[in-house]
Amino acid sequence: MMKFFVVAILFAFTEAGVIVGDTNCVSIRDINYEKEILKSNLESPYQLAIDHDTNTLFFSYTARNEEMFKTAYLSLKTGEYGIVSGIHEGFANAVNSKSGIVYMGGEDGIYQFNYDTKIATNLHIITQNANVWQMFYKDGLYFTTYPEEKAYLYKNGEMVEVPEVQNIKVMIIAVNNDNNIVYHNSSGLYMNNKAKGNSILLNSAVVNGITADIEGNLYFSNSSGIYYLNDKTKEVEELAKIDNIYGVAIESNGNIIYASEDSIIRLKPSKKVCIDSNMFVKNVVE
Ligand SMILES: *[C@@H]1O[C@H](CO)[C@@H](O)[C@H](O)[C@H]1NC(C)=O
Ligand SMILES: *[C@@H]1O[C@H](CO)[C@@H](O)[C@H](O)[C@H]1NC(C)=O
Repeated sequence: MMKFFVVAILFAFTEAGVIVGDTNCVSIRDINYEKEILKSNLESPYQLAIDHDTNTLFFSYTARNEEMFKTAYLSLKTGEYGIVSGIHEGFANAVNSKSGIVYMGGEDGIYQFNYDTKIATNLHIITQNANVWQMFYKDGLYFTTYPEEKAYLYKNGEMVEVPEVQNIKVMIIAVNNDNNIVYHNSSGLYMNNKAKGNSILLNSAVVNGITADIEGNLYFSNSSGIYYLNDKTKEVEELAKIDNIYGVAIESNGNIIYASEDSIIRLKPSKKVCIDSNMFVKNVVE
């Protein structure tokens, strides 16, 4: 009887055209989102960063036939897409939204992107041929290097090692709204408390991308989903469980953009009913 009832409901929704298939539907904080594919046929898009002024997304990807990393741009407004030239092994991206500067990290230092020419130019701010792994902008450009796994801050034309993590390996770095350094290394995800001078372990999980929304709140991704770092509780909140996520960025209106193995996807708020596969199975079994 229950089975018939559920099937009847599903049928009714289908008739009305309001069902979003479970693979295309994500529910976050009680709001339903649909996956909108913005760009497909990509190879492992990583390290997403949005320039909110121009509404442009920057990311890196693996050009397998050439065995190298490249940097690409995608207009979130018009869909215009292209590859950035001039950069060697472009892997990291960050935007100084106050001055509108788009920074890119390559195998030989930090570059600046030119919107008119779509060319990135090496700023030659690193003395050694540092291979930039990841970047984050907050009142200065924070970045990590590989394989040294060191964290630096480039600010007012000067470059220093980030003092809070000077003797620690760091692969991913960010700064939260309390101006505390949040970082990830092979031991886990940590938050440094500037005032107390110590670091606490937030999570022992893997992190493959970290980003801030326009208000400075931090989010991160790993291969199992998208997470929010609550500054107040110092806790990690799961926003969405999605397999094979490669990176995340937040649009100025709060929409989540993420990278899957081969696409850039927007989670777009939807009025449709989200039928989750677990609920379906549960009802049928009853
Ligand atoms: C990662 O950071 C933690 C906390 O600062 C530190 O204890 C640990 O030694 C670091 N791991 C590595 C490999 O440096
Ligand atoms: C991703 O992070 C979440 C939250 O910290 C954690 O529960 C999950 O195990 C992580 N996944 C991987 C593959 O590390």
